[in-house]
Amino acid sequence: MADLLIRNAAFPDGRTGLDVLADGGRITAVGRNLKAQAAREIDAQGWLLSPPFVDPHFHMDATLSYGLPRVNQSGTLLEGISLWGELKPLLAQEHLVERALQYCDWAVAKGLLSVRTHVDICDDRLLAVEALLHVKQKVAPYLDLQLVAFPQDGLLRSPTALANLTRSLDMGVDVVGGIPHFERTMADGAESVKLLCELAAERGLLVDMHCDESDDPLSRHIETLAAQTQRLGLHGRVTGSHLTSMHSMDNYYVSKLIPLMVEAQVNAIANPLLNFTLQGGHDTYPKRRGMTRVPELMAAGVNVAFGHDCVMDPWYGMGSGDMLEVAHMGLHVAQMTSQAGIRACFEAVTTNAAKVMHLEGYGLDAGCDASFVLLQARDPVEAIRLRATRLKVFKNGKLLAETPAATARLHVTGRAEATSFMPARVGD
Ligand code: FE2
Repeated sequence: MADLLIRNAAFPDGRTGLDVLADGGRITAVGRNLKAQAAREIDAQGWLLSPPFVDPHFHMDATLSYGLPRVNQSGTLLEGISLWGELKPLLAQEHLVERALQYCDWAVAKGLLSVRTHVDICDDRLLAVEALLHVKQKVAPYLDLQLVAFPQDGLLRSPTALANLTRSLDMGVDVVGGIPHFERTMADGAESVKLLCELAAERGLLVDMHCDESDDPLSRHIETLAAQTQRLGLHGRVTGSHLTSMHSMDNYYVSKLIPLMVEAQVNAIANPLLNFTLQGGHDTYPKRRGMTRVPELMAAGVNVAFGHDCVMDPWYGMGSGDMLEVAHMGLHVAQMTSQAGIRACFEAVTTNAAKVMHLEGYGLDAGCDASFVLLQARDPVEAIRLRATRLKVFKNGKLLAETPAATARLHVTGRAEATSFMPARVGD
Protein backbone atom coordinates (compact mmCIF):
# COMPACT_ATOMS: atom_id res chain seq x y z
CA MET A 1 0.00 0.00 0.00
CA ALA A 2 1.32 3.46 -0.96
CA ASP A 3 1.64 6.37 1.47
CA LEU A 4 -0.63 8.94 -0.15
CA LEU A 5 -3.27 9.18 -2.86
CA ILE A 6 -4.78 12.48 -3.98
CA ARG A 7 -7.99 11.99 -6.00
CA ASN A 8 -9.53 14.34 -8.55
CA ALA A 9 -7.13 17.28 -8.71
CA ALA A 10 -6.74 19.96 -11.36
CA PHE A 11 -3.19 20.65 -12.58
CA PRO A 12 -1.72 24.06 -13.47
CA ASP A 13 -1.36 22.94 -17.12
CA GLY A 14 -5.16 22.71 -17.45
CA ARG A 15 -5.66 18.97 -17.02
CA THR A 16 -8.43 18.02 -14.60
CA GLY A 17 -9.67 14.91 -12.77
CA LEU A 18 -6.17 13.60 -12.07
CA ASP A 19 -5.07 11.28 -9.27
CA VAL A 20 -1.58 11.47 -7.78
CA LEU A 21 -0.04 8.49 -6.01
CA ALA A 22 2.97 8.96 -3.73
CA ASP A 23 5.22 6.56 -1.92
CA GLY A 24 8.55 6.93 -0.14
CA GLY A 25 8.43 10.72 -0.58
CA ARG A 26 8.09 10.62 -4.37
CA ILE A 27 5.27 10.68 -6.89
CA THR A 28 4.93 7.15 -8.27
CA ALA A 29 1.96 7.57 -10.62
CA VAL A 30 -0.26 10.26 -12.13
CA GLY A 31 -3.45 9.49 -14.06
CA ARG A 32 -7.21 9.25 -14.11
CA ASN A 33 -8.96 6.75 -11.81
CA LEU A 34 -5.75 5.11 -10.61
CA LYS A 35 -6.29 1.59 -9.32
CA ALA A 36 -4.36 2.02 -6.12
CA GLN A 37 -4.70 2.19 -2.38
CA ALA A 38 -2.84 4.35 0.09
CA ALA A 39 -2.58 4.84 3.83
CA ARG A 40 -3.96 8.35 3.35
CA GLU A 41 -6.44 9.20 0.61
CA ILE A 42 -7.57 12.76 -0.03
CA ASP A 43 -10.43 13.90 -2.25
CA ALA A 44 -9.18 17.12 -3.88
CA GLN A 45 -12.72 17.89 -5.12
CA GLY A 46 -11.36 19.28 -8.34
CA TRP A 47 -9.22 21.95 -6.65
CA LEU A 48 -5.85 22.96 -8.08
CA LEU A 49 -2.81 20.91 -7.08
CA SER A 50 0.38 22.86 -7.75
CA PRO A 51 4.04 22.18 -7.13
CA PRO A 52 5.07 24.23 -4.08
CA PHE A 53 5.72 27.95 -4.43
CA VAL A 54 9.35 28.98 -4.83
CA ASP A 55 10.79 32.34 -3.81
CA PRO A 56 14.05 32.82 -5.74
CA HIS A 57 14.93 36.20 -4.17
CA PHE A 58 14.63 37.00 -0.50
CA HIS A 59 16.51 38.61 2.40
CA MET A 60 15.95 36.35 5.39
CA ASP A 61 18.63 38.01 7.53
CA ALA A 62 16.55 41.20 7.56
CA THR A 63 13.04 39.78 7.62
CA LEU A 64 10.60 40.63 10.43
CA SER A 65 12.89 43.40 11.70
CA TYR A 66 10.50 46.19 10.68
CA GLY A 67 10.85 49.17 13.05
CA LEU A 68 14.31 48.11 14.32
CA PRO A 69 16.00 50.33 15.32
CA ARG A 70 13.52 52.78 13.75
CA VAL A 71 11.03 52.91 10.90
CA ASN A 72 12.17 53.89 7.37
CA GLN A 73 10.65 57.39 7.22
CA SER A 74 11.16 58.15 3.52
CA GLY A 75 10.40 54.60 2.38
CA THR A 76 13.33 54.78 -0.07
CA LEU A 77 15.89 52.14 -1.05
CA LEU A 78 18.78 54.34 0.14
CA GLU A 79 17.26 55.02 3.58
CA GLY A 80 16.58 51.26 3.79
CA ILE A 81 20.28 50.51 3.12
CA SER A 82 21.45 53.07 5.73
CA LEU A 83 18.87 51.78 8.23
CA TRP A 84 20.16 48.25 7.68
CA GLY A 85 23.66 49.67 8.35
CA GLU A 86 22.42 51.02 11.70
CA LEU A 87 20.77 47.72 12.58
CA LYS A 88 23.65 45.40 11.64
CA PRO A 89 25.92 46.10 14.65
CA LEU A 90 22.93 45.55 16.96
CA LEU A 91 22.00 42.15 15.56
CA ALA A 92 22.25 39.15 17.84
CA GLN A 93 22.46 35.68 16.38
CA GLU A 94 19.61 34.22 18.40
CA HIS A 95 17.25 36.96 17.21
CA LEU A 96 18.26 36.41 13.59
CA VAL A 97 17.57 32.70 13.97
CA GLU A 98 14.28 33.30 15.76
CA ARG A 99 12.99 35.71 13.10
CA ALA A 100 14.11 33.49 10.21
CA LEU A 101 12.44 30.43 11.74
CA GLN A 102 9.26 32.40 12.28
CA TYR A 103 9.30 33.47 8.64
CA CYS A 104 9.84 29.85 7.53
CA ASP A 105 6.69 28.92 9.48
CA TRP A 106 4.77 31.63 7.62
CA ALA A 107 6.22 30.36 4.34
CA VAL A 108 5.23 26.74 4.95
CA ALA A 109 1.67 27.78 5.81
CA LYS A 110 1.54 29.56 2.42
CA GLY A 111 2.87 26.54 0.50
CA LEU A 112 6.25 28.23 -0.05
CA LEU A 113 8.78 25.42 0.36
CA SER A 114 11.93 26.73 -1.38
CA VAL A 115 13.58 30.07 -0.73
CA ARG A 116 16.80 31.54 -2.10
CA THR A 117 17.93 34.14 0.39
CA HIS A 118 20.72 36.65 0.05
CA VAL A 119 22.76 37.00 3.22
CA ASP A 120 24.81 40.13 3.87
CA ILE A 121 28.48 39.20 4.29
CA CYS A 122 29.77 42.74 4.95
CA ASP A 123 29.60 42.38 8.74
CA ASP A 124 33.05 41.00 9.63
CA ARG A 125 31.53 38.81 12.35
CA LEU A 126 29.51 36.95 9.68
CA LEU A 127 26.78 36.59 12.29
CA ALA A 128 24.01 36.44 9.71
CA VAL A 129 25.87 33.78 7.72
CA GLU A 130 26.26 31.59 10.81
CA ALA A 131 22.63 32.16 11.78
CA LEU A 132 21.21 31.32 8.36
CA LEU A 133 23.44 28.26 7.91
CA HIS A 134 22.00 27.06 11.22
CA VAL A 135 18.46 27.84 10.05
CA LYS A 136 19.09 26.08 6.73
CA GLN A 137 20.02 22.90 8.55
CA LYS A 138 17.13 23.20 10.97
CA VAL A 139 14.42 23.68 8.31
CA ALA A 140 15.91 21.19 5.81
CA PRO A 141 13.26 18.52 6.52
CA TYR A 142 10.51 20.85 5.30
CA LEU A 143 11.97 23.84 3.43
CA ASP A 144 14.85 24.16 0.94
CA LEU A 145 16.86 27.20 1.86
CA GLN A 146 19.58 28.32 -0.55
CA LEU A 147 22.01 31.02 0.62
CA VAL A 148 23.65 33.70 -1.55
CA ALA A 149 26.79 35.49 -0.33
CA PHE A 150 25.68 39.10 -0.77
CA PRO A 151 28.15 42.00 -0.40
CA GLN A 152 25.51 44.62 0.45
CA ASP A 153 28.07 47.44 0.86
CA GLY A 154 29.86 46.63 -2.41
CA LEU A 155 32.50 43.99 -3.15
CA LEU A 156 35.22 46.57 -3.93
CA ARG A 157 33.73 49.46 -1.98
CA SER A 158 33.76 47.59 1.33
CA PRO A 159 37.38 46.77 2.29
CA THR A 160 36.72 43.34 3.80
CA ALA A 161 33.89 42.20 1.51
CA LEU A 162 35.92 39.94 -0.80
CA ALA A 163 37.61 38.15 2.11
CA ASN A 164 34.29 37.80 3.93
CA LEU A 165 32.56 36.53 0.81
CA THR A 166 35.22 33.86 0.28
CA ARG A 167 35.02 32.87 3.97
CA SER A 168 31.24 32.56 3.78
CA LEU A 169 31.52 30.27 0.73
CA ASP A 170 34.03 28.16 2.67
CA MET A 171 31.49 27.97 5.50
CA GLY A 172 28.87 26.49 3.16
CA VAL A 173 27.02 29.39 1.52
CA ASP A 174 25.71 28.08 -1.82
CA VAL A 175 25.65 30.91 -4.36
CA VAL A 176 27.91 33.86 -5.31
CA GLY A 177 26.15 37.24 -5.05
CA GLY A 178 27.08 40.80 -6.00
CA ILE A 179 25.82 44.38 -6.29
CA PRO A 180 27.74 46.04 -9.15
CA HIS A 181 25.55 49.17 -9.34
CA PHE A 182 26.51 50.00 -5.73
CA GLU A 183 30.27 50.05 -6.44
CA ARG A 184 31.85 53.49 -6.77
CA THR A 185 32.08 53.57 -10.56
CA MET A 186 30.72 51.70 -13.55
CA ALA A 187 34.26 50.35 -14.07
CA ASP A 188 34.42 49.03 -10.49
CA GLY A 189 30.99 47.45 -10.99
CA ALA A 190 32.22 45.68 -14.13
CA GLU A 191 35.38 44.55 -12.30
CA SER A 192 33.26 43.13 -9.45
CA VAL A 193 31.12 41.17 -11.91
CA LYS A 194 34.26 39.72 -13.52
CA LEU A 195 35.85 38.75 -10.18
CA LEU A 196 32.67 37.18 -8.83
CA CYS A 197 31.91 35.17 -11.98
CA GLU A 198 35.51 33.86 -11.99
CA LEU A 199 35.14 32.87 -8.33
CA ALA A 200 31.92 31.01 -9.12
CA ALA A 201 33.49 29.28 -12.13
CA GLU A 202 36.48 28.14 -10.05
CA ARG A 203 34.22 26.72 -7.35
CA GLY A 204 31.48 25.35 -9.61
CA LEU A 205 28.84 27.56 -7.98
CA LEU A 206 25.76 29.39 -9.20
CA VAL A 207 25.70 33.21 -9.45
CA ASP A 208 22.87 35.57 -8.49
CA MET A 209 23.62 39.29 -8.43
CA HIS A 210 21.57 42.30 -7.49
CA CYS A 211 22.13 43.93 -10.84
CA ASP A 212 21.22 47.40 -12.11
CA GLU A 213 18.74 48.01 -9.29
CA SER A 214 18.32 51.67 -10.20
CA ASP A 215 16.42 53.94 -12.58
CA ASP A 216 19.64 54.81 -14.42
CA PRO A 217 19.06 54.16 -18.14
CA LEU A 218 22.85 53.97 -18.65
CA SER A 219 23.54 51.25 -16.10
CA ARG A 220 25.21 48.43 -18.04
CA HIS A 221 26.02 45.66 -15.54
CA ILE A 222 23.56 43.12 -16.94
CA GLU A 223 25.43 43.38 -20.26
CA THR A 224 28.70 42.67 -18.41
CA LEU A 225 27.08 39.81 -16.47
CA ALA A 226 25.85 38.20 -19.70
CA ALA A 227 29.27 38.68 -21.33
CA GLN A 228 31.15 37.14 -18.38
CA THR A 229 28.67 34.25 -18.32
CA GLN A 230 29.42 33.66 -21.99
CA ARG A 231 33.19 33.97 -21.55
CA LEU A 232 33.35 31.53 -18.63
CA GLY A 233 30.81 29.04 -20.01
CA LEU A 234 28.41 29.56 -17.09
CA HIS A 235 25.32 29.23 -19.30
CA GLY A 236 22.11 28.66 -17.30
CA ARG A 237 23.95 29.10 -13.99
CA VAL A 238 23.76 32.88 -13.66
CA THR A 239 20.88 35.12 -12.57
CA GLY A 240 20.43 38.87 -12.76
CA SER A 241 18.14 40.05 -9.95
CA HIS A 242 16.04 43.22 -10.17
CA LEU A 243 17.37 44.61 -13.51
CA THR A 244 15.15 47.65 -12.93
CA SER A 245 17.33 49.96 -15.03
CA MET A 246 16.14 47.96 -18.06
CA HIS A 247 12.78 49.67 -17.51
CA SER A 248 14.39 53.03 -18.32
CA MET A 249 16.93 51.98 -20.95
CA ASP A 250 16.93 53.10 -24.55
CA ASN A 251 14.81 50.71 -26.61
CA TYR A 252 17.41 50.31 -29.35
CA TYR A 253 20.04 49.29 -26.78
CA VAL A 254 17.63 46.78 -25.19
CA SER A 255 17.04 45.23 -28.63
CA LYS A 256 20.71 44.22 -28.52
CA LEU A 257 20.83 43.40 -24.79
CA ILE A 258 18.00 40.86 -24.56
CA PRO A 259 19.48 38.57 -27.27
CA LEU A 260 22.80 38.66 -25.35
CA MET A 261 20.94 37.46 -22.24
CA VAL A 262 19.23 34.72 -24.26
CA GLU A 263 22.57 33.63 -25.74
CA ALA A 264 24.16 33.36 -22.25
CA GLN A 265 21.00 31.76 -20.78
CA VAL A 266 20.99 34.30 -17.96
CA ASN A 267 17.92 34.04 -15.72
CA ALA A 268 16.09 37.23 -14.72
CA ILE A 269 14.31 37.89 -11.44
CA ALA A 270 11.86 40.75 -10.99
CA ASN A 271 10.65 41.66 -7.52
CA PRO A 272 7.33 43.36 -8.29
CA LEU A 273 6.36 44.45 -4.75
CA LEU A 274 9.69 46.14 -4.09
CA ASN A 275 10.49 47.36 -7.60
CA PHE A 276 7.13 49.08 -7.85
CA THR A 277 7.50 50.80 -4.47
CA LEU A 278 11.23 51.67 -4.52
CA GLN A 279 11.88 52.60 -8.15
CA GLY A 280 10.82 55.87 -9.70
CA GLY A 281 11.39 57.57 -6.34
CA HIS A 282 13.24 60.49 -7.92
CA ASP A 283 10.49 61.06 -10.48
CA THR A 284 7.77 63.64 -10.08
CA TYR A 285 5.12 62.82 -12.70
CA PRO A 286 4.86 60.70 -14.71
CA LYS A 287 6.45 58.15 -12.34
CA ARG A 288 8.16 55.13 -13.81
CA ARG A 289 7.03 51.70 -12.58
CA GLY A 290 10.64 50.56 -12.49
CA MET A 291 10.08 46.82 -12.93
CA THR A 292 12.20 45.13 -15.58
CA ARG A 293 10.74 44.21 -18.99
CA VAL A 294 9.07 40.97 -17.95
CA PRO A 295 6.85 40.14 -20.96
CA GLU A 296 9.55 41.12 -23.46
CA LEU A 297 12.17 38.98 -21.68
CA MET A 298 9.76 36.04 -21.49
CA ALA A 299 8.81 36.38 -25.16
CA ALA A 300 12.50 36.31 -26.13
CA GLY A 301 13.03 33.06 -24.19
CA VAL A 302 14.67 34.33 -20.98
CA ASN A 303 13.66 32.38 -17.89
CA VAL A 304 11.96 35.04 -15.73
CA ALA A 305 10.95 34.45 -12.12
CA PHE A 306 9.39 36.68 -9.46
CA GLY A 307 10.79 37.11 -5.94
CA HIS A 308 9.27 38.48 -2.74
CA ASP A 309 12.55 40.24 -1.85
CA CYS A 310 11.45 41.66 1.51
CA VAL A 311 8.86 41.08 4.24
CA MET A 312 8.64 43.45 7.21
CA ASP A 313 12.20 44.80 7.05
CA PRO A 314 13.99 48.18 6.63
CA TRP A 315 12.92 48.33 2.96
CA TYR A 316 9.34 47.10 3.12
CA GLY A 317 6.76 46.99 5.91
CA MET A 318 4.29 44.73 4.08
CA GLY A 319 4.21 41.07 3.02
CA SER A 320 3.37 37.69 4.47
CA GLY A 321 5.32 35.09 2.47
CA ASP A 322 2.50 34.77 -0.05
CA MET A 323 3.91 34.18 -3.54
CA LEU A 324 0.41 34.52 -5.02
CA GLU A 325 0.45 38.13 -3.80
CA VAL A 326 3.79 38.55 -5.59
CA ALA A 327 2.36 37.08 -8.81
CA HIS A 328 -0.74 39.27 -8.42
CA MET A 329 1.35 42.43 -8.18
CA GLY A 330 3.64 41.23 -10.98
CA LEU A 331 0.87 40.80 -13.50
CA HIS A 332 -0.53 44.26 -12.70
CA VAL A 333 2.80 46.07 -12.94
CA ALA A 334 3.77 44.21 -16.12
CA GLN A 335 0.25 44.62 -17.57
CA MET A 336 0.16 40.86 -18.17
CA THR A 337 -3.60 40.53 -17.82
CA SER A 338 -4.23 38.12 -20.72
CA GLN A 339 -5.03 34.53 -19.71
CA ALA A 340 -1.60 33.46 -21.00
CA GLY A 341 0.04 36.38 -19.19
CA ILE A 342 -1.58 35.49 -15.86
CA ARG A 343 -0.56 31.85 -16.23
CA ALA A 344 3.00 32.97 -17.03
CA CYS A 345 3.00 34.95 -13.75
CA PHE A 346 1.94 31.79 -11.89
CA GLU A 347 4.90 30.00 -13.50
CA ALA A 348 7.16 32.88 -12.40
CA VAL A 349 6.57 31.87 -8.75
CA THR A 350 6.63 28.10 -9.37
CA THR A 351 8.43 26.36 -12.26
CA ASN A 352 10.53 29.32 -13.50
CA ALA A 353 11.72 30.06 -9.96
CA ALA A 354 12.56 26.37 -9.44
CA LYS A 355 14.68 26.53 -12.60
CA VAL A 356 16.58 29.56 -11.24
CA MET A 357 17.38 27.62 -8.06
CA HIS A 358 18.29 24.43 -9.98
CA LEU A 359 15.85 22.49 -7.77
CA GLU A 360 15.88 18.76 -8.37
CA GLY A 361 12.72 16.64 -8.28
CA TYR A 362 10.44 19.66 -8.71
CA GLY A 363 7.11 19.13 -10.49
CA LEU A 364 4.03 16.93 -10.64
CA ASP A 365 5.33 14.11 -12.85
CA ALA A 366 5.97 10.55 -11.71
CA GLY A 367 9.47 10.48 -10.19
CA CYS A 368 9.26 14.04 -8.81
CA ASP A 369 9.19 14.77 -5.08
CA ALA A 370 5.74 14.32 -3.54
CA SER A 371 5.74 17.99 -2.57
CA PHE A 372 2.71 20.05 -3.55
CA VAL A 373 0.07 22.45 -2.41
CA LEU A 374 -3.69 22.04 -2.77
CA LEU A 375 -5.27 25.43 -3.47
CA GLN A 376 -8.89 26.48 -3.08
CA ALA A 377 -9.03 27.47 -6.74
CA ARG A 378 -9.85 25.71 -10.00
CA ASP A 379 -6.89 27.00 -11.99
CA PRO A 380 -3.86 29.32 -11.74
CA VAL A 381 -5.86 32.37 -12.83
CA GLU A 382 -8.37 31.91 -10.01
CA ALA A 383 -5.55 31.10 -7.59
CA ILE A 384 -3.91 34.46 -8.24
CA ARG A 385 -7.18 36.39 -8.33
CA LEU A 386 -8.21 35.10 -4.90
CA ARG A 387 -4.71 34.62 -3.42
CA ALA A 388 -6.33 31.23 -2.82
CA THR A 389 -6.35 29.43 0.50
CA ARG A 390 -3.68 26.77 0.82
CA LEU A 391 -5.92 23.90 1.88
CA LYS A 392 -3.08 21.40 2.30
CA VAL A 393 0.68 21.59 1.93
CA PHE A 394 2.75 18.42 1.46
CA LYS A 395 6.51 17.89 1.53
CA ASN A 396 7.79 14.51 0.33
CA GLY A 397 4.38 12.96 0.96
CA LYS A 398 4.05 14.34 4.50
CA LEU A 399 1.33 16.81 5.45
CA LEU A 400 3.02 20.03 6.64
CA ALA A 401 0.18 22.54 6.93
CA GLU A 402 -3.57 22.86 6.56
CA THR A 403 -5.84 25.88 6.33
CA PRO A 404 -9.64 25.65 6.43
CA ALA A 405 -11.43 26.55 3.21
CA ALA A 406 -12.40 30.23 3.05
CA THR A 407 -16.13 30.75 3.43
CA ALA A 408 -18.21 33.69 4.53
CA ARG A 409 -21.43 33.51 6.52
CA LEU A 410 -23.82 36.10 5.17
CA HIS A 411 -26.71 37.68 7.02
CA VAL A 412 -28.36 39.43 4.13
CA THR A 413 -32.16 39.46 3.83
CA GLY A 414 -33.35 37.17 1.06
CA ARG A 415 -29.97 35.51 0.53
CA ALA A 416 -28.60 32.18 1.67
CA GLU A 417 -27.34 32.24 5.24
CA ALA A 418 -24.02 30.68 4.33
CA THR A 419 -22.23 30.82 1.01
CA SER A 420 -18.89 29.99 -0.50
CA PHE A 421 -16.34 32.80 -0.59
CA MET A 422 -15.82 32.08 -4.27
CA PRO A 423 -18.46 32.90 -6.84
CA ALA A 424 -18.76 30.42 -9.70
CA ARG A 425 -16.61 31.16 -12.72
CA VAL A 426 -18.14 32.38 -15.94
CA GLY A 427 -19.19 29.29 -17.89
CA ASP A 428 -19.74 27.09 -14.82
FE1 FE2 B 1 17.14 42.02 -2.98
